[in-house]
Amino acid sequence: MTDTQRQIVELARDFARTHIEPKAAEWDRTKEFPRATILELGKLGFLGMCSPEEYDGMGIDAVTYLMALEEIAAADAGVAVTMSIQNAIPTVMLTRHGTPAQKERWLRPLARGEIIVGFALSEPDSGSDPASMRAQAVRDGNGWVLNGLKAWATNGGTADLMMIMVRTDGPDARRGAKGISTFIVPTDTPGYKAGKPEDKMGLRASNTTTIALEDLRLPAEGLLGDEGMGFVYAMEGLDAGRLGIAAQATGIARRALEHSIEYCGVRKQFGRKLGEFQGVQFKLADMATRVEASRALAHAAGALRDRGQSITQHAAMAKLFASETAMWVTTQAIQLFGGYGYMRDYPVEKLFRDAKVTEIYEGTSEIQRIVIARYLGAHP
Ligand code: CAA
Repeated sequence: MTDTQRQIVELARDFARTHIEPKAAEWDRTKEFPRATILELGKLGFLGMCSPEEYDGMGIDAVTYLMALEEIAAADAGVAVTMSIQNAIPTVMLTRHGTPAQKERWLRPLARGEIIVGFALSEPDSGSDPASMRAQAVRDGNGWVLNGLKAWATNGGTADLMMIMVRTDGPDARRGAKGISTFIVPTDTPGYKAGKPEDKMGLRASNTTTIALEDLRLPAEGLLGDEGMGFVYAMEGLDAGRLGIAAQATGIARRALEHSIEYCGVRKQFGRKLGEFQGVQFKLADMATRVEASRALAHAAGALRDRGQSITQHAAMAKLFASETAMWVTTQAIQLFGGYGYMRDYPVEKLFRDAKVTEIYEGTSEIQRIVIARYLGAHP
């Protein structure tokens, strides 16, 4: 680490351990979205790490951002996903494709962490295959009218601003991926209706809802970039998003490993500490190796991004490996904790539940394998 990286990581770790981890079990139980804590994170700059400095962001490199995100995820993965969304998909979309006026209006407060932003791509019948979405926008004079139903929208009920993908070529998906556009939607716009927060297995401090778009009217400047390019913008954003999910999964796995090491140092069975059994040592060694490998893949993809290269394949590899690692490591952690591990009173049970979604959202593990395989040249 450079001195700057060490300072940023220490600040993130200190905030995470003081202000996030002690409350994480309570947020998990109550499904509370910790807005005040997230806005505090914003005041420290962590919600605008990847935004350009000219728009009040930190303009920091991707690797340092991933290090900070891992610290927040180790304390609570639900808070981490809000930090990840804020720094990735909408930021990439606005930075690359926003007009100067759109950046001034939205990117600046987003980078300062004054507003919370979300992203809505999926629909009840369109998850892994977003090109088949049906929600649509039709022209209305200079502006647009949006109708349809989005699903599993992160921050759907808590965001101030949503980036929403809908069709602009009619509801019958005539043009597939090429018929989709991105709209910048303030959530106080009449016709924006978030459903009740979903009752999720994990990541319960993050808010996930459906969004009904009911004759939601936007001015012309609600459209981001070019009409028909929304699918590509979403994929570009997801490349950055998947990098963040790799760091989030690494943070979950690392914390499960840390708890396991601590537990194996005190728990005695058959007159010996668990850590004295070689079978347990082997398990801990495998867990540690996979955590390290997850971090290394994520940072390697981050370094590619910092050099301005495409990260599509490497972000998919990093997310795939880290999310499967998080699931495997948290499963081993529960096994080491035994009966205690199965109880809500011990932290590894929550880490296990939080880990699962990293294999599902921002593209399932199967989708990551499709993306990776496309770069291998093994099929037409
Ligand atoms: N960057 C830039 N452009 C890209 C791209 C990328 N990473 N990936 C695809 N494109 C472009 C293609 O080049 C193509 O453009 P051209 O026709 O001009 O060449 C266009 O987009 C269509 O691409 P495909 O033909 O490859 O599209 P496809 O329908 O076959 O889908 C897919 C490809 C990889 C399977 C894609 O559908 C996918 O990633 N699916 C998973 C969706 C997903 O991750 N959903 C998560 C939702 S968000 C969430 O989880 C909640 C949250 O907020 C946390």
